Amino acid sequence: MDKFVINGGRTLNGSVAIGGAKNATLALMPATILAAGTSRLFNTPSLRDVNTMAVLLRTMGIVVELKEHTLTLDTRRIDKFEAPYEHVKKMRASIYVLGPLLARFGRAKVSLPGGCAWGPRPVNLHIEAMRKLGSEIDLREGYIHAAAARLQGARIHFDVSSVGATGNALMAAVLARGTTLIENAAIEPEITQLAEYLVTMGARIQGIGTNRLEIDGVDDLHAADVTTIPDRIEAGTFLVAGALCGGSTTLTHVIPEHLAAVTAKLEDAGAVITTAGDSITLKVQHAISSVDVTASIYPGFPTDMQAQWTALMAVADGTSVVTDTIYFDRFKHIPELLRLGADIEVKDNAAIVRGVRSLAGAKVMSTDLRASASLILAGLIAHGTTEVLRVYHLDRGYEAIEKKLRALGADIERVAGEEF
Ligand code: UD1
Repeated sequence: MDKFVINGGRTLNGSVAIGGAKNATLALMPATILAAGTSRLFNTPSLRDVNTMAVLLRTMGIVVELKEHTLTLDTRRIDKFEAPYEHVKKMRASIYVLGPLLARFGRAKVSLPGGCAWGPRPVNLHIEAMRKLGSEIDLREGYIHAAAARLQGARIHFDVSSVGATGNALMAAVLARGTTLIENAAIEPEITQLAEYLVTMGARIQGIGTNRLEIDGVDDLHAADVTTIPDRIEAGTFLVAGALCGGSTTLTHVIPEHLAAVTAKLEDAGAVITTAGDSITLKVQHAISSVDVTASIYPGFPTDMQAQWTALMAVADGTSVVTDTIYFDRFKHIPELLRLGADIEVKDNAAIVRGVRSLAGAKVMSTDLRASASLILAGLIAHGTTEVLRVYHLDRGYEAIEKKLRALGADIERVAGEEF
C-alpha cells in the first residue's frame, strides 16, 4: 500500500491543469450501454474508480480501452446483464448500469451496495424509479433483479434530490415507450453532461440543467463521442491547497461557474480570486479567516469539498461551523486532523472548527476519498513531516495529485509498495 510523505510549509506558485470529472465519467461510461457501437470519451481521467467501472463493463462483454485520456468503449457484444457484488462493493457508482441494461436489454441483476465508510447510503430511489417505469423488481440474495419487456414512461418525483437516481432514471427513460417526467431531478453539472450526452446519442430530453426533466422515449440510440467536463472537486481541492499555502495558484481547464460556491467561500475567507475563460487564479495576501459552510445539493457547496474545507478552517483565524446536509456522518477525517493538532468538535452533522496557529506533522490514515484529500491538504501546511497512509482511497478520485502539487512547489512524495 502506498503512502504520501509530505514536508509541510512550502508556498505554492504556478499553474495546474485540471482533469476530467470522475463523477461525469462514471455516468457517461454506463450510458454507452444504451446503444450498440463504439463511443469515445475524451478527457477521461485515469483513476481507480474509472478502472473499476471499466472492469465491470468488460465482464458484460464491452471492450474498453483507455489511452492518453481517451476512453473507447465498444458495446456491440454485450452478453451479460449483471453487476456482481465484488464490483459494487468497491464502488457504489456501479449501480449506474441498472437503468441502461434494463432499458436496452429488458433485464439487469445488480448487487445491492450495502453501507459505506461514512454510513448508510440507500438505493431506494433508484429502485423506485425503475418500478415507476414498469420494471419488475425483486430483491433477493443481496441483489436487485429487474425485468421489463419494455419500460413505460412515467412521472417520477424524487423526495430527495439524488445524483445517482436521477442519472439512472434518465438512462432508463430515454428508451422507454412514451413520456417520462423527472421532478426534483439533480442539477449537478455531471448530470447535465449526462443528459446532453444522451441527446447526442439521439435521446429527446427537455429541461436539461433544471430540476424538471421531460423525456420522450425513442426506439433506439446510436453511439456518440463526448468530451468530459472538468472535475470541479479536483479543482476545488487545488484552490484550497493554494489558500492554505499562500502564493499564487492558477487552475487551467476548469469551468469557473461550476466552482461558484467554493470560490465565493474562498473570497469570504480572504483569498483573491480572478477568473479568465477556463482558468481561475487564487492569491492569498492576508491570513485566511473562518467562514461557515453548509454542504448541500448543487449549486450549493459540494459535500465532496466539505473535508477539504475543514482542513482550511483548521488553521483559519477564528471559529467556523462546517455542516453537511447530504451525508450526516461524513466526518471520518476529523479524528485524523486532531492528530495533526487541529481543534475540532463534531456535533450531529456539523464540525465546529476552532482555528489553531499551526498544525504539526504526524502519521495519519486515509479512510475515504475526500478524507484523504483533506489530510494531504493539512500535511501541506503542518510543520515537519506528515505521512498519509493508505492513499489508495485518494487514487479513486485524483490523478497524480502528488505530481501536480510538486509542480506547484509542494514537497510531497509517494512511497510505494510497503506494508503500513
Ligand atoms: C454522488 C457522487 C458523490 C457525491 C454525491 C452527493 C457520483 C459517482 N458520486 O453520489 O461523489 O458525494 O453525489 O453530491 O456521482 N439517497 C437516498 N436514496 C437513494 C439515493 C440517495 O436516500 O436511493 C440520499 C443519500 O443518502 C444522500 C442523498 O440522497 O443523502 C444524495 O445522494 P446522491 O446524490 O444519490 O449521491 P450519489 O449519487 O450516491
